[in-house]
Amino acid sequence: MRREMMRSSREQAIALLAGAPYVHLASSGPDGQPVLRALHGVVCDGALYFHGSPAGEKVSLVGREAVVAHEELVAEIPSYWTDATMACPATSLFVSVQAHAVVERVEDPVEKASALQALMRRFQPEGGHAEIRYDDPRYRKPVDGVALWKLALDRVDGKWKLAQNRGADYVRTVIDRLWERGRATDARAIELLLEANTSVERPAFLQGPERSTLHPWSDPSALAAALELVRDEYWNAARFDDEAITAAHRASSAWVLARDEHGAVIATARAVSDGVKYCYLGDVAVRRDWRGRGVGAALVRMLLDHPAVRRAARVELATRDAMAFYERLGFSLVSQQHNGTFVRSTMALVRAQNVVAA
Ligand SMILES: CC(C)(COP(=O)(O)OP(=O)(O)OC[C@H]1O[C@@H](n2cnc3c(N)ncnc32)[C@H](O)[C@@H]1OP(=O)(O)O)[C@@H](O)C(=O)NCCC(=O)NCCS
Repeated sequence: MRREMMRSSREQAIALLAGAPYVHLASSGPDGQPVLRALHGVVCDGALYFHGSPAGEKVSLVGREAVVAHEELVAEIPSYWTDATMACPATSLFVSVQAHAVVERVEDPVEKASALQALMRRFQPEGGHAEIRYDDPRYRKPVDGVALWKLALDRVDGKWKLAQNRGADYVRTVIDRLWERGRATDARAIELLLEANTSVERPAFLQGPERSTLHPWSDPSALAAALELVRDEYWNAARFDDEAITAAHRASSAWVLARDEHGAVIATARAVSDGVKYCYLGDVAVRRDWRGRGVGAALVRMLLDHPAVRRAARVELATRDAMAFYERLGFSLVSQQHNGTFVRSTMALVRAQNVVAA
């Protein structure tokens, strides 16, 4: 890799490969011609496994050098963000992984069964089938009949091209423009840029009170911490289990976090929005020891300015007792109704007149 500063950790690179919906494998055939295939592969026990027909083309790859690759575009960066005249600065930010290895055929039936089971777990996580085990007589014939290959993951390179070579001013400019542009993937791009350029000062709109930080996007690894904050709150307890709350967060248009200076999650909030007319805020919660220190207000303000939310003409939410908190953020009471044990207040922030929910 030309710029070592863009090399990711081995763990990041393998995680990108393991999460890929499919990978590309390049090698050469017996006639020396290039070969390129798209594969469903699974990472397990330090190798990438893939399967196919014992009569297929892949058989001829055994013993040959191959490379598998996967990449994700993080953001397209137009030239005019940093140069008013020249086209040259146009670029893209991406994360990518490549693994080089010699293709090996897997013959041990127990290893085959276990890799095939891992493949099922990866691509059919809901189950719905008997576990693939070689000591299950029903699977003997199918396991013997399928071909399985592996590439040892010893030579793995992850490239995180996230402006590490460009200097703090460039990174700050790009972050500001990404926030302004607000495409669906731009909040994630901001988060990845900040992670890759730790010496760059966070922009003011992502700084919270008392050295806390605000995050416009998070990967699912923070879901458990968000669940801790919201699962026992009155709007979830005894109504929605962890799976349902997790699914709601994953399906949200925006899910934002606040973290303390050590990176621990201290607040969470999410929004479901059509981006234009109507938006609903939910699951807003601050960790107890951080309440009353301005984090909730800072996080909701950032969420209201989030690209998925900022153009919605009407933003609504319901609350039992935090009306004053939301009034300070521009919301007004719309209606109140008895909801079994408490009064449920619906509040709205109306940014354009004559907008109704329908
Ligand atoms: C409500 C909640 C999100 C507010 O977050 P927070 O970080 O404690 O709030 P802040 O410190 O940013 O408070 C901003 C202002 O709102 C006020 N406020 C905070 N919580 C309030 C509440 N429940 N009712 C009325 N006012 C409240 C604060 O007193 C503060 O006023 P000030 O600026 O005059 O001091 C937080 O207290 C919480 O998680 N509560 C439990 C879960 C909950 O009720 N969530 C809201 C569901 S709709």
